[in-house]
Amino acid sequence: MRPAPFSFETPIDLEIGSGVGWWALRYARQNPNRYLIAIEKTREKFARFDQRVLAHTQIQNLTAVNADAIAWITHCLGTQKLSRVFILYPNPNPKNTAQRWIRMPFFGALLERLKPGGEIFWATNISDYAEEIRQYSKSVWKLEPFLDRSFTQQTRPSDYPRTHFEKKYLLRGETCWELGYRKPCF
Ligand SMILES: C[S@@+](CC[C@H](N)C(=O)[O-])C[C@H]1O[C@@H](n2cnc3c(N)ncnc32)[C@H](O)[C@@H]1O
Repeated sequence: MRPAPFSFETPIDLEIGSGVGWWALRYARQNPNRYLIAIEKTREKFARFDQRVLAHTQIQNLTAVNADAIAWITHCLGTQKLSRVFILYPNPNPKNTAQRWIRMPFFGALLERLKPGGEIFWATNISDYAEEIRQYSKSVWKLEPFLDRSFTQQTRPSDYPRTHFEKKYLLRGETCWELGYRKPCF
């Protein structure tokens, strides 16, 4: 069994929809004093993610979970456990936009798992989804914005792309949006 280099104070972060896990591994490596739980529902994508995790045994601050995030978070995570949540390039569900995370009642349950002052990060290549995140974050969920920027292949930060889908969208010449919100402390 691995030694646990973490304490009760170690911030716990969560990624929903990790895909093949590029970003999760990088984030865990770059943030050795934090702990990341990364959830991916699809079996094939998770298998590739899991292989990567197994190949990087030096990364001990990452748990990869093959589950539906809604069920797993609802049943396995207590209130105010999380410091950060990452939802990077979620499925846009164009035929049923009510199924977008930001619109689902489940999003309220997710926010309950976030500590006061905790942060939620989004990325999307769809401008109307970005706008919906802005509107719902403000008017429904009462979150405080702290990050709102867009980038292309030409203007991206030097260490981007971070994810498999981000790479695909940038190479197609698309614009990507990055949004960040904070849960108020009161
Ligand atoms: C468009 S992909 C983005 C993957 C990755 N974040 C990236 O940027 O490369 C969306 C991912 O979310 C996963 N996903 C969708 N709904 C999920 C759920 N309820 N629980 C866990 N993962 C989910 C999908 O299986 C898919 O891998």
